Formats: sequence, structure tokens, C-alpha cells
Amino acid sequence: MARGAEEGKRAAAEAGARRVRPGMHVALGTGSTAALAIRALARRFPSEGALDTVASSEASERLAKELGIPVRGFRGDDRFDLMIDGADEAAPDLSLTKGGGGALFREKILALHARERVIMVDATKLVDRLGVGHPIPVEVVPYALESVARRIAAWGASAVVRRSPSDELYRTDNGGGILDVAFPDGVSDPAGTERELRSIPGVVESGLFVGLTDLLLVGHPDGRVEERRPPAGAPDRR
Ligand code: A5P
Repeated sequence: MARGAEEGKRAAAEAGARRVRPGMHVALGTGSTAALAIRALARRFPSEGALDTVASSEASERLAKELGIPVRGFRGDDRFDLMIDGADEAAPDLSLTKGGGGALFREKILALHARERVIMVDATKLVDRLGVGHPIPVEVVPYALESVARRIAAWGASAVVRRSPSDELYRTDNGGGILDVAFPDGVSDPAGTERELRSIPGVVESGLFVGLTDLLLVGHPDGRVEERRPPAGAPDRR
């Protein structure tokens, strides 16, 4: 990653961590930006017990625990004050592509349980349209990977089964597989495409996040962090 992007990412992550107050119930996202925010949180809250957190992946849970941040399991009645997470792409209406790190399902569930969803990105993640420069990750029950891939291919998109660095089938924390779906012209209607993907038997969840961003923190290479709120009329899902 270019140096400027790395600095932007760090600035956004630190700004995200600064929004956390003592005693808050916080959902922790996944990925390299979320990891920087978790590290910043550990510096801000050096004593255990000041926060109540739930992580969206085993990796984030491990990191938080190593750094002394208390992490517990997710409960159905959880209502987080804040979720801090990264994204692979952010569109002007603050809809997102997520799941580059494979945690999209748990990230979406936790986002639906959070009062304020704060997304931290560096400026290279801003796009005019989702899915042009980054495929849309889709979590699928492994049994149905090939059948789902074929259905998606019939739409004129390509669906590639994600593999691990050792060339095994990539498995999410839920045991699911991932299809990375490239649409030839990107995604013009994220909400519609999200619905269509979810209607295919075997699809667990897609990495299209619509109406799940309350605040976008955009970090720039000079350390400046821009705050963007969803435009009037943008969807809001809770
Ligand atoms: C994890 O599954 C993803 O949704 C991440 O939030 C996303 O891929 C952003 O990751 P980086 O912060 O590493 O770019």
C-alpha cells in the first residue's frame, strides 16, 4: 500500500478510536484499519474494565485480548453505543463494499445492533460507484459455492471462489466460503443487488453494506481527517 494511504488509514483509525468514551459498549470491526483502531483503543484505555466490547472476527478478538481490552461474546440483545470498522470501498451515499478480510457476515450483524456506525477509511477507498475497482465479497454455504457462482455468472458477472494463501478453500469464522464477485460495470443499485444476492439459496450475506454508515471518517496522507455523514434521503438500516 502507498505510504500516503497508510498514513490516511492510521489517521482515520485514531479518529475512530477517539470517539470511544469510558464505559461504552463497542463493536470492533475487522481488517487492518480496525486493527489500528483497536491498538489506539488499547493505548487510550490501558486499564481493563473501562470498555465492554464484542469483536466481529476471531482475529480482532485475539488482538483486543492480547492488548488487554476485555472482549466478550455477542448476545442477541446487544445494543452497542458505537461500532468502529473499516471498509474496502465507500460510495457518495456512504454505502460500502466490505468483506475483503472475510468478516462481512459478523460485521453486518454487529452493525445492525449499533446505534452509531463509524467507518474509517483512507481517501483511496472513496469511489463513485461500488464494485468497479474491488469485487463484492459474498459469503456462501460451502455446499452451494458452485451453484451460487453459476447463478451469478448467468447475470453476466464473474464469481471467483476465494482461496487461502496455501490454496485451500478460504473459510470464514462461520465456516462459510467466499465468492468474490466482479460486475462488469460495478454496482449501480447496491440495495437492489444486495437483495438479489441474498435471494440466491446458499448465500449467507453479501459485502454490500447499504444504510449502515452513520459517520465516515476519511483519513488523508497529511493526517487530516474529514467527517462525512450520509446525504439527505440516503437509506438507514437498523
Ligand atoms: C473485513 O472483512 C472487511 O470488511 C474490512 O473492514 C475491509 O476489508 C477493510 O479492510 P482494511 O482496513 O484492511 O482495508
